[in-house]
Formats: sequence, structure tokens, C-alpha cells
Amino acid sequence: MAKSRYYPQAGLSASYSRAGDDPFVSGSRFHDESSWQAMASLTWIFWDWGKVKNSVNEVESLKKQLIKSRKILEDNIGLDLKAAILNLEATEKNIPTTKKAIEQAMENLRVSRERYKAQMTTSTEVLDAQTLLSNMIKIYQVSKSFGASAALQDLDLKVREGEFVFIAGPSGAGKTTLLRLLFGSEQPTSGQILINGINLTRIKRAKLDLLRRKIGFVFQDFKLINTQTVFQNVALALEVIQERPSIIRKKTRQALKAVGLGKREKAFPLQLSGGEQQRVAIARAIINEPLILLADEPTGNLDPKITRDIMVLFRSINLKGTTLVIATHSQELLSNTDHRIIFLKQGRVDYETTP
Ligand SMILES: Nc1ncnc2c1ncn2[C@@H]1O[C@H](COP(=O)(O)OP(=O)(O)OP(=O)(O)O)[C@@H](O)[C@H]1O
Ligand SMILES: [Mg+2]
Repeated sequence: MAKSRYYPQAGLSASYSRAGDDPFVSGSRFHDESSWQAMASLTWIFWDWGKVKNSVNEVESLKKQLIKSRKILEDNIGLDLKAAILNLEATEKNIPTTKKAIEQAMENLRVSRERYKAQMTTSTEVLDAQTLLSNMIKIYQVSKSFGASAALQDLDLKVREGEFVFIAGPSGAGKTTLLRLLFGSEQPTSGQILINGINLTRIKRAKLDLLRRKIGFVFQDFKLINTQTVFQNVALALEVIQERPSIIRKKTRQALKAVGLGKREKAFPLQLSGGEQQRVAIARAIINEPLILLADEPTGNLDPKITRDIMVLFRSINLKGTTLVIATHSQELLSNTDHRIIFLKQGRVDYETTP
């Protein structure tokens, strides 16, 4: 529906149907050129106003769309938030379960660690036991003093089962003292000595005597009984353990044969050479088939040929499984050996040479 309006100053009336339409101007009269221009301007004003109106409508429409979009956006954000909160709640619910799982894992770890530790201990014990078995002699921090003077100081030493080892060193270094400690005829001032796994420092006297039967000792000065024959000197080692006479006879002859004195059994020690006396001492030491043979300067005063014979004898005893510990400062023995040598100096291990 068109509307009209009268403009008295311009002498015209304008009509328009709706916003945005071109205004229809009708005039009853135009007095002059300026009136005509005023009317034209007014026409353009209406034209522009229509455009403004259109723009306003567009803005309104955009505003509505914006509101709508914002609502959608807000709704979506709301949804996302809700989902996030649900997630959080679920996680929160899981926390105790997770906490329990962590505690369980920690407990498992603790149990595993304990088991591992126990296994380690067992392994160490097994290893210790194996070392004990394979070491015929173990000496821990052994010291031996005679009054104020120290013959041995903080000695640590191991000799494997079946090993052949020399103890060397200058006079007074402690070689004899060490052998006497191993034989149990001296007690260390401090430290521990284990022979075949038995602790000498804790053993009772009766047991020590039994153990000694398994250790042969060849003394530096032979310790033969000059009033008894070679046979009697050797047999004595079996008589003290009350062996049967038939066994004593058999074993004594075997031992004398082994040291090359089979034909001298009736002789007395003083009728023998130094080397022969030494061999009687060796026969007496090996007659019990000892686990360990300790020999103190066994070739001390013997010539090189007899020294070599005695060394061959020791080697054959060793090959039968006896562990040999020989104290010597004989260069003859030491320079021609392929055995381990432990050098003592002033009661301590100075150095060792291994083959
Ligand atoms: N029963 C004892 N009483 C006092 N001192 C002793 C005794 N036995 C050994 N000693 C001392 O202990 C030290 C080591 O002596 P040991 O007899 O063990 O030496 P060694 O190495 O065997 O010497 P050698 O090569 O002369 O036989 C020496 O100083 C010695 O005087
Ligand atoms: Mg000595």
C-alpha cells in the first residue's frame, strides 16, 4: 500500500509504497529551477534512506544469525565440557583401582627383589662352598708372634686341591712357621686357617689329631729316631693309629719302595746318607696317603742329583692327588720349576709367581 506525504516548502507531495522502493514524486507546481533541484535532492534522500533501511534489515538479520550461531556454539561447548567432565569423573573413579594396581606392582617388585636377593645369597653360598671344596688350604689374615717378634703378619693364602706350591723366601721369612701352623702344631696369634674346609682354629684337640693323620710333614731336620730301623721309623706312622700289623708291613714296604729304599729297611738312620735319611722322612710322611704333604727344606743339604730324584718323587706323589706345599730357599728347586712360588719376606707375602 503506497503512502504519500505533502511537502509544502517544496510545493510537492511524495509517495512510496515500502522501504527501499524508488519514491514517486508528483508535484502540482514547480515555481523555479531551485525548487526542481530541491525536489531532486529529496528524491535521492529517499533513495539513500531506502538503502539504509535495507542495510539495517541486513544487519538485523546478521545479528539474528550471530545469536543463533553463538547459541549453537555455546551448546556445543557445553556438550564438550560435559563430555570432559564425564571423562574426568570416570578417571577419578579409576584412581583407587589404578592406585591399587600401582601398590600391587610395587609389592610384586618388592617380592621379586627379595627373591633375587635370596637367590644371590644362595649363589654366593654355593660359590663359597665350591671355593671351600676346591681350596685345600685357606689362610685368612693370619699372624703369628713369638713374644714381641712377628714371624707371620696378616697372611692371606689359598692353595687349591691337588696343587704343588713352593713357599720361598730368605732365612727367617716365616716358611717353617707357616708349615707348622698348617700342621696344627702351632696356633696362629690371630686369623683363621681352613684345611679341607675344616677350621683349624676352632677344631677340638681330638679332631685335630684325626685331621693330622691326613697331613704328612717332612721336617727340616728329618726327626728320625736313630735307635730304630728305617722300617720301624716309617711303620711308626701307622702304629700310632693302631693299624693292623699285616697292613703296617704291606704299606711300609710299599712306601720304602716308592722312595727307592726298598733294600735298606733294616738299616739305622745314622748308617744312611743325608739324601737317604730325607727319603725315609718322606716315606713316613706319605705312608697314610695324606691329603696334604708339607715338606720343610726337603733338599736342604742334598747334592743336585739326589735333589732331582726327590723332586721326581714329590711329583709322582702329587700326581696321585696329594696337595704339596714345599718350603725352600733352594735356587736349584725354584729356578727349574713350573709350579707356583709364594715368596715370603719378613712374615708377609712379598710376591708370587705363577707358571
Ligand atoms: N719357637 C719360636 N720361638 C721364637 N721365635 C721363633 C720361633 N719359631 C720361629 N721364630 C722366629 O720367627 C721368625 C720366622 O722363623 P721361621 O723358622 O718360620 O723362618 P724360616 O723362613 O723357616 O727360616 P729358615 O729358612 O732359616 O728355615 C724368625 O725370626 C724366627 O726367629
Ligand atoms: Mg725354616
